Amino acid sequence: MKHRVTESRPAAAADAPEQGQADSPSGTRPVESIADLRDALNHCRRCALWQAATQGVPGEGRETARLMLVGEVPGDAEDLAGHPFVGPAGALLDRALHEAGIDRRAVFVTNAVKHFKFEQRGKRRLHVRPSIAEVKACSWWLAEELRLVRPRLAVALGATAARSLLGRSVTISAMRGRAVPVGGTMHVWVTVHPSFLLRMPQETRRRAELARFVGELREAIEWLRRAG
Ligand code: URA
Repeated sequence: MKHRVTESRPAAAADAPEQGQADSPSGTRPVESIADLRDALNHCRRCALWQAATQGVPGEGRETARLMLVGEVPGDAEDLAGHPFVGPAGALLDRALHEAGIDRRAVFVTNAVKHFKFEQRGKRRLHVRPSIAEVKACSWWLAEELRLVRPRLAVALGATAARSLLGRSVTISAMRGRAVPVGGTMHVWVTVHPSFLLRMPQETRRRAELARFVGELREAIEWLRRAG
């Protein structure tokens, strides 16, 4: 499947199915509502990640949200709970949203890839970054969420989300902190992933980066206000 950034639709939306498309051997079928996503996702065979994961983790939040937050892939806690951003990265995201004055219940939170990818080390399941092929395969689902929620702004939390939303690999430092038009009425705002902050060993640097992240979330919501 070739990714394109079309003039009228973001990359993930370019993979959106046509209305009425029949079930496919990959197990995907267009959904009629956000409520249908969970069941539909659990039939997905577009890549092999479903085999080891406990379940597919759909996006959730306000179904008419103007702001969508897109992470990378569910982690261990999300895989078990079936909800996005409920583990350590989620706790940091919640804190950053709170500091930025954003109510998580007013936004839609999801991931570029919907099944946990991990490596088993003893009893621990360690996160593994999804491949480009897996991101592309799963962009079908992100496109479904974009089609149903129709956000005005999608915040890409990290490089994997940016890749899925923009259809190309980008350097976060070169793209972060501004609204990038992707056609139609949607823009993409690239920033870092909360796990990037969690992994920082040095306390002072972590604090500075967290402040920058909060600042960018604040700017994103300001942009949205100005955009009307
Ligand atoms: N990291 C993500 O990208 N998404 C989650 O849901 C949790 C951690």
